[in-house]
Amino acid sequence: MENFENVIVCDHPLVQHKIALLHDKNTGSKEFRELVHEVSMFMCYEATRDLPLKEVQIQTPLGELSNSKIISGRKIAFVPIMRAGMGMLDGALALVPTAKVGHVGIYRDKQNGNTATDYYCKLPFDIANREVVILDLMLATGVSAVKAADIVKASGAKNIKFMCVLACPEGIKALRDAHPDVQIVCGAIDKGLNEDLYIIPGIGDGGDRLFGTK
Ligand code: URA
Repeated sequence: MENFENVIVCDHPLVQHKIALLHDKNTGSKEFRELVHEVSMFMCYEATRDLPLKEVQIQTPLGELSNSKIISGRKIAFVPIMRAGMGMLDGALALVPTAKVGHVGIYRDKQNGNTATDYYCKLPFDIANREVVILDLMLATGVSAVKAADIVKASGAKNIKFMCVLACPEGIKALRDAHPDVQIVCGAIDKGLNEDLYIIPGIGDGGDRLFGTK
């Protein structure tokens, strides 16, 4: 795989530990969901690292603090890709509770040349003025990620990040080829895709493991 420049991998020991548990086939849905929630909080911490700050004056109980820093200007919209991205939303919102949330529903048709079709889209009206963080559990072939970025760009968003728990080189390349300006934040990068377009070693079907549908 070529370089992973501009891809942030959250290699904190706590994240890596939790991602090991997500890989484990014996991890059941309840624990899987909790782990995705926790990992999403850590990743959101990294994804928001470059938010601009401004200095404000604060009255403390004992005096005045003239160079206190608060987040300035840019507001955030989280856009989970249904359905697996939904599992990351609460973790992201735990860190940025004032964020707005858009939803995109994307159906990936493996029979039809692995193309992506969007079937649902509801975005905040002011998304063009927000920093957008697209959420999906996996970055596998990249077709859903590319489609989601197409959709949010078409609605005017310019500052876009893509946050996923698990990526692979093929998905990173596809997203970066189509949208080089979209920064990728992930928990880990696995080896690649198998012939069924699952990430290997991977975590299996992320949506099914999150929601217990298999
Ligand atoms: N989607 C999944 O749920 N798992 C994969 O491995 C790839 C895409």
